[in-house]
Amino acid sequence: MPQAVNPERIAVVLAAGKGTRLRSERPKVLHEVAGRPLLEWVLAAARGAGCRRLLVVVGHGADEVRRRVRGDDVTWVEQREQLGTGHALAQAEPHVTGPAVLLVLSGDVPLVRPATLERLIAAAAAGWGALATAELAEPGGLGRILADENGRIERIVEAADATAEELAIRRVNAGLYALPAPAVFDDLRRLGTDNAKGEHYLTDAMGLAVAAGRPVALVAVEAAEALGVNDRRELAAVHRALLARRVDELMAAGVTVLEPARTVIEPGVEVGVDTVIHPGVALLGRTRIGAECVVHQGAWIRDSTIAAGVEIRPYSVLDGAEVATGCSVGPFARLRPGSVLMDGAHVGNFVEMKQARLGAGAKASHLAYLGDATVGEGANIGAGVVTCNYDGVAKHPTEIGDGAFVGSDTMLVAPVRVGRGATTGAGSVITQDVPDGALAVGRARQRNIPDWPRRRKQ
Ligand code: UD1
Ligand code: CA
Repeated sequence: MPQAVNPERIAVVLAAGKGTRLRSERPKVLHEVAGRPLLEWVLAAARGAGCRRLLVVVGHGADEVRRRVRGDDVTWVEQREQLGTGHALAQAEPHVTGPAVLLVLSGDVPLVRPATLERLIAAAAAGWGALATAELAEPGGLGRILADENGRIERIVEAADATAEELAIRRVNAGLYALPAPAVFDDLRRLGTDNAKGEHYLTDAMGLAVAAGRPVALVAVEAAEALGVNDRRELAAVHRALLARRVDELMAAGVTVLEPARTVIEPGVEVGVDTVIHPGVALLGRTRIGAECVVHQGAWIRDSTIAAGVEIRPYSVLDGAEVATGCSVGPFARLRPGSVLMDGAHVGNFVEMKQARLGAGAKASHLAYLGDATVGEGANIGAGVVTCNYDGVAKHPTEIGDGAFVGSDTMLVAPVRVGRGATTGAGSVITQDVPDGALAVGRARQRNIPDWPRRRKQ
């Protein structure tokens, strides 16, 4: 018996279109949903389904797309004129040498899951080709599947070409296919342009295959996976659906999200068990949050790592911060990149940190700026303390020892060091190092003038 050879799996992503209805200066597939361009989501799904080669057909704004989207596994294929989806796929032919199964994906249909692509491949392997379909309450501008009495596809009719009766069909073409190469390229050569848009429709190739007795399987997918982005409303719907997907997964895994519709959690974010997320929170990028945390209303957190048992109070902004267990942050705190809070540290309202480390149990409770600073264990930073880290040319470090007490409104003119257990008097301008255990007072001495005749209004 001859050995069955597994044909190569190649993704072909159609991404050359202009997306006229978005009314944008930017190529459609670069519009972002859930923090990443549409095209990136499609590429991620293809990679998830084991495609090692991704052929991306670009045309409108090709240079910009190539600049913004990268990957060693991506081969850019140019479609100089956008003559339709069939024409777009045909441009990939020179890059497909041996027999292959092509996962043909639409650059504007980003919710597709790797598991769905696996199902498409399996269905195609059992016959000739396969395409994804969904039943939509509002099928809108999508292509309709015309089926025979046994539910087998006969052909696809585009909304622009459909009769009123055909438009009433709710089973649509999701724009996701598994097709055998080189066979499909022969069908593409036979496509005409006798249709409402005067284009070479890839969808017509499905009709040609079926008419020639080659079975095209229909793979049903959930409605969300068939969502495509053709205008700004659909962009918002897809964005929302991607966020909802992650929120649903996190809730299933034991995270409380009090108001999912008012919460933004990007798909790359991790959250631990029994953490409670209040409304109006945004968790973005590579953020990791541990178990048993509370993230209060309005917190905006990007690329940050938060350990277990942390409280993030309302309206705090954390970007590239690292927060250890038992800390509390905010309300209204701002932790910029390189902010590190060790166990049990506390940052209060209107405190800004940047490239600064707060030791275990240290506190900066009110109105402070800590930049390029190291604060020791258990130190207390008074209200209004500022590390004057910038002299107009360069940034300089401030070091504050364990157990130090930095009095309110102290200006620490860097580079400077406040020793272990040292104290600074309120309102001091500290320009020299303070030895361990010392008290530094750097301000004008108070003078009292008795019986001062204050001017009074007549
Ligand atoms: C297409 C399908 C429709 C399906 C829908 C799913 C055709 C003819 N119609 O319609 O049946 O329901 O997708 O979302 O295929 N593109 C190119 N070059 C071109 C034209 C398009 O690369 O010349 C790309 C676009 O950038 C887009 C994708 O192909 O990413 C689909 O094109 P679009 O014009 O959005 O097709 P729809 O009208 O949505
Ligand atoms: Ca589309």
